[in-house]
Amino acid sequence: MSEHRPRPLLVTGAGGGIGAAVVELLTAAGHPVAVADRDLAAARAVADALPAGRPPALALDLDVTDLDSVRAGVADAARALGGLGGVVNNAGWLEPRALAETDDELLRTTLAVNLEGPLRVIREALPELIRFGSGRIVNVASDGALSGMTHIAAYAAAKGGVISLTRALTLELARHQITVNTVSPGPTQTPLFAATGGNDEQAVERFVRSIPLRRIGAPQDVATAIAFFCGEQAGFISGQILSVSGGLTRP
Ligand SMILES: NC(=O)c1ccc[n+]([C@@H]2O[C@H](COP(=O)([O-])OP(=O)(O)OC[C@H]3O[C@@H](n4cnc5c(N)ncnc54)[C@H](O)[C@@H]3O)[C@@H](O)[C@H]2O)c1
Repeated sequence: MSEHRPRPLLVTGAGGGIGAAVVELLTAAGHPVAVADRDLAAARAVADALPAGRPPALALDLDVTDLDSVRAGVADAARALGGLGGVVNNAGWLEPRALAETDDELLRTTLAVNLEGPLRVIREALPELIRFGSGRIVNVASDGALSGMTHIAAYAAAKGGVISLTRALTLELARHQITVNTVSPGPTQTPLFAATGGNDEQAVERFVRSIPLRRIGAPQDVATAIAFFCGEQAGFISGQILSVSGGLTRP
């Protein structure tokens, strides 16, 4: 059934940055999309900014750390979009801090958003994906997990977990024709990047010098890879980790 109907998708953290660019590309490709974010006003702004004539884009208040919120969001998305054929686990959060200064609260929040969040969203969406007949799960990790960086140990551990859960679920979900892939961004021009060093000109210059293609990524660069894994043409690709980083990371 999924071969011939547009695949409805839920994108978390879609209220800005990479997630907003993903919504733009997915709706341009004909997918109905649930624009989910814990910041509902931001999600609404993204949905409202889409050009006329696009498939439905439903703004949703969804916090990936809250089970009730995830359950309600998945149910609302499936009801409004006529089922659910995939999820993009894009929501992420980072407060850079040396491990010695990372208290338990920061540790728990970092793991809750970046690691537990994707697992919870996948688990709660799974019955809908199975009902749809096939599925696409795209996770967003970070090159910080692949190559390491100072002051992000908890975040890197969470994103490393995302890479591991991608591999495990590839095997577990294949019998349902569900693919599971991960896109791993390098430094990308978004509010998160700005808030974690991207406002520091010298730090940005250092990043640019280390990137073979000599620029910081744009949200669209990362969104292109995510949209590819969501597409029907990617139905035989699963368990892959794709770095979008201008050649910075070569896994
Ligand atoms: N920008 C980069 O340089 C970079 C690099 C590597 C990985 N990433 C990853 O890319 C993804 C997108 O990041 P971005 O740079 O666009 O960040 P961003 O801060 O611009 O966007 C993240 C969105 O996630 C939402 N969000 C945060 N916590 C949430 C929660 N608990 N539930 C639901 N929504 C939540 C925020 O409201 C925001 O709209 C994240 O997973 C991030 O870790 C980004």
